[in-house]
Amino acid sequence: MYTEIVKIIEGGLSNDKEKVVNYATVLANNLEKQGEFSLAKKIRSTLSQKKGSLTSLDSLSTRPVDSESRMEIVEISFPQVDANKIILSKYTHEKVFSFIESYNRRDLLLQSGLNTSNTLLLYGPPGCGKTTVAQLISSITGLPLITARLDGLVSSLLGSTAKNIRKIFDYASKRECILFLDEFDVIAKLRDDKNELGELKRVVNSLIQNIDSFSENSILIAATNHQELLDPAIWRRFTSVLTLEKPQKEDIEQLLHVILDGKSTNFLFIPKKMEHLQNALLGLSHSDINTILLNALRNVILSNRDCLTNCDVLKEIYLHKNHSICNEDCLIKYFMDNGATHKEINESMQIPLRKIQGISKAIDRKEM
Ligand SMILES: Nc1ncnc2c1ncn2[C@@H]1O[C@H](COP(=O)(O)OP(=O)(O)OP(=O)(O)O)[C@@H](O)[C@H]1O
Ligand SMILES: [Mg+2]
Repeated sequence: MYTEIVKIIEGGLSNDKEKVVNYATVLANNLEKQGEFSLAKKIRSTLSQKKGSLTSLDSLSTRPVDSESRMEIVEISFPQVDANKIILSKYTHEKVFSFIESYNRRDLLLQSGLNTSNTLLLYGPPGCGKTTVAQLISSITGLPLITARLDGLVSSLLGSTAKNIRKIFDYASKRECILFLDEFDVIAKLRDDKNELGELKRVVNSLIQNIDSFSENSILIAATNHQELLDPAIWRRFTSVLTLEKPQKEDIEQLLHVILDGKSTNFLFIPKKMEHLQNALLGLSHSDINTILLNALRNVILSNRDCLTNCDVLKEIYLHKNHSICNEDCLIKYFMDNGATHKEINESMQIPLRKIQGISKAIDRKEM
């Protein structure tokens, strides 16, 4: 019986619904043989209730593969995202949620003779939330996220690329889902390769045709870091376009609160210190800020401390920007420039106050 339970868990974790159903049925039969009638009945009734959605999910079990490499060309996930932890500017937040609303209430729009807005193009620098927003939409709508990385897909012969695109759209058409085309600009970049132009045209045309016949009951999201490379004909296919930029100062403040929620710090509720840290983090992506704070937290734990300080964070920002600390004096200057007091630097770096004061004077004399 334990074997069945383990198999059910395995099936659940790998999204193999068929395995879950088969082993749950075996489990119910075995329980019945052992006289556990009520539990067996409960399992069967749970299975029959979910049968509808299980059958449609089964259609996702045979994933498309690239005919050359035999590698799967899509990934399927069911992300669980806490919307409160995703920091979006007011306008972006509004746009994402109105896109979801327009999908959820598409029947109303169709009745009024309007098409649904179910195609979304996300663009912006790396690490600023394109994949995160696709996961958020999947999490809120409950639709499975089928991710196709186009860069992997065109690594094969160009002739197979159009075929692969077709396979991905065919696969996605089997049930309601979000088809997420990541690294979308790779199609546009093909232009620079030495491939035959006719072949490229076939790939772009295949993409356009597939987008045009994409089901209104599913969502298509494409993401790119190089929107300027996209063919205008493709660009036009997206009814919603959203740019995800690096976080502004107020977004950084929220991000710090989300990432450091429940952690002990010497700055999170001190506006002056926060102001300095926000300025120091300005220009970095959400992903960079996340990495910097997690690195700083790791160091605090490994050095057996319990409070994250502004100097811990500033040191990680300095390392992120310079990749090393060749000169300790420069780091001290960086701390000072970003609002750390002599005492904080002294405690953080175990450097005598006298030396810190000396550096401070050199800065005043403009020697540094
Ligand atoms: N808006 C956001 N709010 C909170 N965290 C974010 C946000 N955007 C990104 N992050 C953090 O940064 C990480 C990387 O973001 P994501 O993968 O969404 O970036 P991307 O734009 O898809 O980057 P790439 O162009 O490299 O694919 C996320 O796992 C998350 O931790
Ligand atoms: Mg991404």
